[in-house]
Amino acid sequence: MATLLAGPAVLTYKHSGILPQLVSSENMNSRREFLKKISSAAVGVVGVPSLLSAAWAEAQSGNRIQVPGEYGMIVRSFRFIDLESPVEYFNSWLTPIPHFFVRNHMPEPSELDPEAWRLTIGGEVEKPVTLKLNDLLKLPTHSVVNTLECAGNGRAFYRPQVPGVQWGKGALGTARFSGPRLRDVLDRAGVKPTGKHVMFRGLDEVPGKVPPFIRSIPIEKVLDADSLIATHMNGAPLPKHHGFPARALMPGWVGAASCKWLTEIKVLESEFAGNFMNPGYRFPNHPVQPGEAIKPEDTHPLTALNVKSVIAGPVDGSRVKAGPVRVHGAAWAGEADVVKVEISTDGGASWNPAKLGNEHAHYAWRLWSYEWQAKAGDHSILSRATDNKGRVQPPTPEWNPSGYLNNAVDQVKIHVA
Ligand code: MTE
Repeated sequence: MATLLAGPAVLTYKHSGILPQLVSSENMNSRREFLKKISSAAVGVVGVPSLLSAAWAEAQSGNRIQVPGEYGMIVRSFRFIDLESPVEYFNSWLTPIPHFFVRNHMPEPSELDPEAWRLTIGGEVEKPVTLKLNDLLKLPTHSVVNTLECAGNGRAFYRPQVPGVQWGKGALGTARFSGPRLRDVLDRAGVKPTGKHVMFRGLDEVPGKVPPFIRSIPIEKVLDADSLIATHMNGAPLPKHHGFPARALMPGWVGAASCKWLTEIKVLESEFAGNFMNPGYRFPNHPVQPGEAIKPEDTHPLTALNVKSVIAGPVDGSRVKAGPVRVHGAAWAGEADVVKVEISTDGGASWNPAKLGNEHAHYAWRLWSYEWQAKAGDHSILSRATDNKGRVQPPTPEWNPSGYLNNAVDQVKIHVA
């Protein structure tokens, strides 16, 4: 039996040769080959029961992070694995897997056997079903390039400070996620008209009395043509840290909406009642002052991301030479599209348009750049994005007790010599 164990003693399979090069970059042709090979090899062929496991295990070995902090990632928590990308990594449209942030609320599953893995679908459905990984892999595949951002990204900048992981600017990344559409999977069970919300549960190991990481998503979003059960990321099977072997993907929504290590889907009549729906991941309906009491009914669950931008270079605190300097970064807007990014090199007194990169997709960030003629002195450089809904980044974030959705204009301080 092929078993993936946590920690460095992972992965027993180092053979087969049936796999294409599976690396962190895109490789969709190889992916198709891979699916063809494993479905012909592992489906119903007596005598090769572990080929599927071997294939997946081998695929994992190329892109896993074994030691938090490898690949230059910022370790925000050792207790569970919480890794932040340094902003200078936001210079490619797709974020390579080793540079993609990781957010875990609890320990990752210690054992993930792709052959034993099952996904159950129940609740408000005509016919509960249990699917194997091969069942998922045989369904039509859809790909979505999505910018995933943790709701708490930028929490460290709230004043007064708020509790929680002190994310700087890099709980963020963009990848091509692929897998069957959630609606195709739910069709197998048949959603009843009473089904209004869908609950997702992962295989995380729940320590002691801690409530499990369970959230629910309104049925309209779940049935959207771009909502997936992703089995692949940037053309390779999902790495363990990102939810191997399958995760939900709710494009344009806060990262918490995309449950990793998926094992159960339950259709519900109403929103799931649990810690990660309430009080977790909610935002006040009206602006609140620090210290002000907020009633639960005056809050709503977080859904789509805000319009936002980040400066990837030059990095905060750097020294550059006078003359032409390329200021560059990324901008995204959840379910909306970025239409404009403006740069100020004088602390917000005046703004100039940045050039938007050619690569774009509905839920993905847009890279941008601005050619700045830098003069000697200290400068404060700001970036500000606008989307097609007319939303503009505010100069300061809207304070809230959990420090969610900080989308204030970005700022770096640069010394020009
Ligand atoms: N799914 C499970 N099962 N457990 C988790 O802790 N964290 C969520 C989400 N899905 C989480 C989860 C949060 S808060 C975020 S921001 C994203 O996963 C992060 O996805 P990533 O680690 O692949 O970047």
